[in-house]
Amino acid sequence: MSRPWWQQAVIYHMYPRSFMDSNGDGIGDLRGILSKLDYLEWLGVDLLWLCPVFPSPNVDNGYDVSNYCDISPEFGTLADFDLLLAELHRRGMRLMIDLVINHTSDRHPWFIESRSTRSSPRRNWYIWRDGRDGAPPNNWESIFLGPAWTRDDATGQYYLHLFSAHQPDLNWDNPEVRAALCSVACWWLARGVDGFRLDAITHLKKQPGLPDLPDPDGTGCVPSYEAHMNIPGVLDFVHEFARESFRRHDAIALGEANGVSSAQALEWVGTGRGPLDMILQFEHWTMWSSHPHDPLHVPTLRRILGKWQQALQGKGWNALYIENTELPRVISRWGDVGTLRNQSATALATMYFLMQGTPLIYQGQELGMANTTFHDLSVFNDVFSRNRIEQMRAAGQMDDEILAELALTSRDNARTPMPWSDAPQGGFTTGEPWLPLNPEYPAVNVASQQQDPGSVLAYYRKLIRLRRQEAPLIDGRYVEICKRNRRIYAYVREAADGSAIAVICNLSPHPASYRHREWILCHPDLLLSNLSVAPHDDTHSLRLRPFEARVYRVRRRTASD
Ligand code: GLC
Ligand code: CA
Repeated sequence: MSRPWWQQAVIYHMYPRSFMDSNGDGIGDLRGILSKLDYLEWLGVDLLWLCPVFPSPNVDNGYDVSNYCDISPEFGTLADFDLLLAELHRRGMRLMIDLVINHTSDRHPWFIESRSTRSSPRRNWYIWRDGRDGAPPNNWESIFLGPAWTRDDATGQYYLHLFSAHQPDLNWDNPEVRAALCSVACWWLARGVDGFRLDAITHLKKQPGLPDLPDPDGTGCVPSYEAHMNIPGVLDFVHEFARESFRRHDAIALGEANGVSSAQALEWVGTGRGPLDMILQFEHWTMWSSHPHDPLHVPTLRRILGKWQQALQGKGWNALYIENTELPRVISRWGDVGTLRNQSATALATMYFLMQGTPLIYQGQELGMANTTFHDLSVFNDVFSRNRIEQMRAAGQMDDEILAELALTSRDNARTPMPWSDAPQGGFTTGEPWLPLNPEYPAVNVASQQQDPGSVLAYYRKLIRLRRQEAPLIDGRYVEICKRNRRIYAYVREAADGSAIAVICNLSPHPASYRHREWILCHPDLLLSNLSVAPHDDTHSLRLRPFEARVYRVRRRTASD
């Protein structure tokens, strides 16, 4: 079966600020990325997702865009961008840029004009309302905490911002706004980009009338997702945007889709039906964010990921990920950063990477990086963390309590600079890095892992190659097995011609037993394992060590077995 290129791809999700600094100012940049393309090629990834590199006051590090059609001087120039794109293409790789179109920076000329007077021709490009007796127009809380409205002195009205006050929401109900954003996308398509990651795309539509939400506790300001996340009508916007921009080219779109359930996924990414190619679903996050101290509950993870696998089977396509810029490092929450570090990083990798869909690797994940350690609240950079610090201080909490919470939750955990070697500052910069390196860099870095066949990095390379070599890992159906096992996450990928591969991962720090009668393990065909495996000839059961993962060729049991 021939598949579109992006279904065969492996995505590398890059946070350019922290990837590689070429000029010693402590900030990663496009020339830095260019200098590391050999690394990406060696790793085997072939589609780069670049977090925003547009001019930005950096309240939210590039997710507050002040000019959509240029490159931030911190990152380089448009000429550097063109060179990067050309070099990627020359190597058979592709580039997806991050379009942040739910909001702009408050320094974007559109907003500056919009806020200038009530009669500005761009007034209606954003969402302005009168306050109510000195209070905001409604009781929505922003995703980055505090009211979702800020009063602007120039005109005495309030503007809506679902994220920080420096990220005013664009008014997607206004056709001029939609046309302007399509032009932005087309401008980049004409430059040759291969696709977009669409930021916060499920938030474009707000509940009509912007009503107050129930506030039983009388707090005055309540979490407001239900009023602006995946609201009916949002898909019309996305369909139009798709039709008028990337669908006119051979380009793809990956949407960040908080609030879309697996049951609704086909409306977004159903083949021939949804406006997008893939979405980033949020369900497996909530398991962790609602219980940050709990160890991984394998049955819950299986239920969630399995549901997405089933929902899109043969009708759409998944995006597979376990890390990103928003989350703590996966081994710090579900793995073991002590003696089982290597196993836990590679077992978690095996679990998600070989499912049906296009896998993403978030920068540093391939090294098994862990959360970082900050000893001082002033070091936090992330806008959400900073707002949270203020909020906790206002509630009278002590610095060590705040540090303890942020150690688990801060987005800075995943944003520390890439450790390239054990040289000063991990070889990331010759200057002062914008955010301190993870103190583990002398031990956890690219150079040392490149030389070590037993490293997490070496294992990711094997995973990537295996996925390319074995057709069932791309085309095969996802068949859940060992459904009740509390330690093992196992599944089979079964192709139409009957060839099949089993992925069996013990995701616990304890030994675990695998047993299955229907699938026969073909022992000589142990395709991959993260620990060395002694010869063994039982064809239907295994004893797995803590965080052990194995990938076998298997066949269905027949009457003669
Ligand atoms: C998305 C991005 C996040 C950003 C937010 C606002 O959630 O992943 O990094 O802060 O949108 O643009
Ligand atoms: Ca730089």
